[in-house]
Parts: sequence; structure tokens; C-alpha cells
Amino acid sequence: MPRVPFEIRPARDEDRLPLALVFAAIAEERDGIATEPPVDVEARAASWTLEGTLVAVDGDEILGSVHVEASRHGFGELGMAVARDRRGQGVGSALLAAAIDWARENGLHKLSLGVFAHNAAAIALYRKFGFVEEGLRVKHYRRSSGELWDAIDMGLLL
Ligand SMILES: CC(C)(COP(=O)(O)OP(=O)(O)OC[C@H]1O[C@@H](n2cnc3c(N)ncnc32)[C@H](O)[C@@H]1OP(=O)(O)O)[C@@H](O)C(=O)NCCC(=O)NCCS
Repeated sequence: MPRVPFEIRPARDEDRLPLALVFAAIAEERDGIATEPPVDVEARAASWTLEGTLVAVDGDEILGSVHVEASRHGFGELGMAVARDRRGQGVGSALLAAAIDWARENGLHKLSLGVFAHNAAAIALYRKFGFVEEGLRVKHYRRSSGELWDAIDMGLLL
């Protein structure tokens, strides 16, 4: 059950800029998502793929989003993020549950994702929903610091 009031709905055109702003703020953390600053917010807003994007909203405020990029081969690649000050309140769980429903409704047989090996919160969330670890990509991501980060591939058969 949500611990704060919010709803999950498909993304709309007017969500583009707030989605890009939340994304840019999370990129500033340089921790959970692959993108690092600087984020071109206008370009990110314009290019956001609304199909397969669900948002968590509290009134006009976007708390987080999930995107499923459906492939032609029956699997979907999932990415998600929740605004820092709204984490730990069930928003990520609600988004992921809705994304799994969306994927099933759209005929996908599997969801896949990549997660940094140190991202304990995200890995716990994915495991909670039945995702299993399928592989480790060693020193896969070069960060602007020069560090090379491992990533774990996870998958959920639907
Ligand atoms: C990963 C993320 C989406 C989780 O969103 P959230 O709204 O905080 O998630 P929830 O509150 O629904 O918590 C879901 C589960 O995650 C786990 N979890 C959450 N925060 C955790 C933490 N700090 N440490 C360990 N596990 C944690 C718990 O298992 C929790 O389930 P529970 O509440 O039933 O115990 C969020 O932390 C985030 O956006 N991080 C930055 C971006 C990112 O890493 N995206 C994923 C890239 S692969």
C-alpha cells in the first residue's frame, strides 16, 4: 500500500519537461543511473519516449517514472527512477508493479534490465518482484571519475 498519496498513470506530452528535470536531478547523484551530468534538459524532454512510460504523480508533481522499451523479440528493457526525496515510500514498488502489468498487457514474455552492482536499493526492489540475476558485466561502465563499474543483468519471465 502507498505510504504517501500518489497515482500511477501513463505519461503524457506535458510530462516531458518535468520528467527530464527529475532525470537530470537523479543524474547529479552520479550513483544509480548511467547518465551523468550535464543533462541537456530540453533535448531530453523532446526525445522522451512516452510509449511505455508510466509516471507516479502527486497532483502536478512527478515523483518518479518507469519506462519499458518493447523490443521486436518479445522482451522489454526496463529503466526507472524515483526523485530522491520521495524514495522509500513505495513509489518504486508501485511503478514496477504497473510496468509488469503493462508489459503483460502488451504481450511481452520477459522484462530485462541492467543495474549497477552497488545499487542495493534497486536490486532489492527487483528481487522483491521476482527478477533474477542473469549475469555480471565486469567493469562495464566508465564513469566520468575514471572508475569502471560492474553491472548486473536481471530478468523477469512474465
Ligand atoms: C531504486 C528506486 C527506484 C527504488 O524506489 P523507491 O520508491 O525508493 O522504492 P520503494 O520505496 O518501493 O522500495 C522498494 C523496495 O526496495 C528496497 N529498498 C528501498 N530502499 C532501500 C535501501 N535504501 N536499501 C535496501 N533496500 C531498499 C526494499 O526491498 C523495498 O521494499 P519494502 O519497502 O517492501 O521493504 C530508487 O531508489 C531510485 O530511484 N534510485 C535512483 C535511481 C536508480 O537507481 N534507478 C534504478 C536504476 S537500475
